[in-house]
Amino acid sequence: MNGISRRDVIAGAAAGGAALLGAGPAQASEALSTLAARAGLLFGGAIDNVARLDPGMTRLFAQQAGILVTENALKFDYLRPDAERFEFGGADAIAAFAKANGQQLRGHTLIWNDNAPDWLKRRPGREVERIFDAHIDRVVERYAGRLHSWDVVNEPFWPMHGKPGGYRDGPWLSAMGPSYIARAFRRVAAIDKTARLTLNEAFCETNHEWGQGIRPRLRDLVAKLQDDGAPLHAVGFQAHLLPHWPYDDSAFAAYAESFAARGLDIYITELDVNDEAYPANVAERDRRVAKRYGDFLRAVLAIAAVRIVMTWQLSDRASWLRDIYRRAGKPAEKLPRPLPFDDALKPKAAVEAIAAAFAARRVTP
Ligand code: XIL
Repeated sequence: MNGISRRDVIAGAAAGGAALLGAGPAQASEALSTLAARAGLLFGGAIDNVARLDPGMTRLFAQQAGILVTENALKFDYLRPDAERFEFGGADAIAAFAKANGQQLRGHTLIWNDNAPDWLKRRPGREVERIFDAHIDRVVERYAGRLHSWDVVNEPFWPMHGKPGGYRDGPWLSAMGPSYIARAFRRVAAIDKTARLTLNEAFCETNHEWGQGIRPRLRDLVAKLQDDGAPLHAVGFQAHLLPHWPYDDSAFAAYAESFAARGLDIYITELDVNDEAYPANVAERDRRVAKRYGDFLRAVLAIAAVRIVMTWQLSDRASWLRDIYRRAGKPAEKLPRPLPFDDALKPKAAVEAIAAAFAARRVTP
């Protein structure tokens, strides 16, 4: 991993100035996507149901994001309320929005054992296989050539389910065993020749036993997929950061870099900072959240293979953590503030921290 020092910057300049990207003081007034581009990165956020967005939210996404990802619209249960129908309206609207704003788009997520509707769970294994293949063909065909990347499989592991190999339980695993993973990648590659095919995983950033359980399994799975010639281009790390659990950013960065060494791109796909254990005082909370963003990004951006940083939504107002904590009965003033922009869509300290991490990044082109 590259350390960053003034001497390196000067050496880069002496070498003609073209050797390094990034570098330079952070200017938070510039869009995060602009600062990211200068550091050889795409920055953006997850977006849900464009039809419901107010003009302020729409403007924020248009201004700040160079890439969008469908938060829910391409998940199986959203697309398939019943066995016959495909509801493409939500995802189509996001695709049109991205196109109108000159933004790239990631598809999230084609196959995930978590998002199974009841009608699917009731089907016998042979039929689940048939539905799996037909679903991939239809959905991938529709967006082929239009996506930057596909999260082909999300969260292959969930050791907490107690299944052999630590695999996440659900209809695809029950019907096909772990072979559903390579099968999905092969099937997508046969249809979409341009999307970067991504395996997206949770908890690898934490040293909590969940992260420790998943990391070696993901490493072995990727090695096996590559050995078997499966078309895999990138590993996505969700990075829903949990500062109240043990973590070690440099150990995570070393782990992530081991995939880069195997020729894979690294995407930070769902970044946010859970502020549950931070002080109630809002300014202090925002400061801690910003520091966590900065520390994490400085560690991972030292890896040249990191090409994307996306937060899960852009504004606290739309964070998935809001829903979870609201349902758990948290009072309004204690609701999470995990994202770079606040409820009024104003930049928080996290924007400066992210901007600074982008500006400090130097990668050899
Ligand atoms: C979340 C969405 O943000 C919520 O709106 C939805 O209710 C549940 O799913 N990891 C993932 C995402 O890969 O798909 C999840 O998104 C958040 C955790």
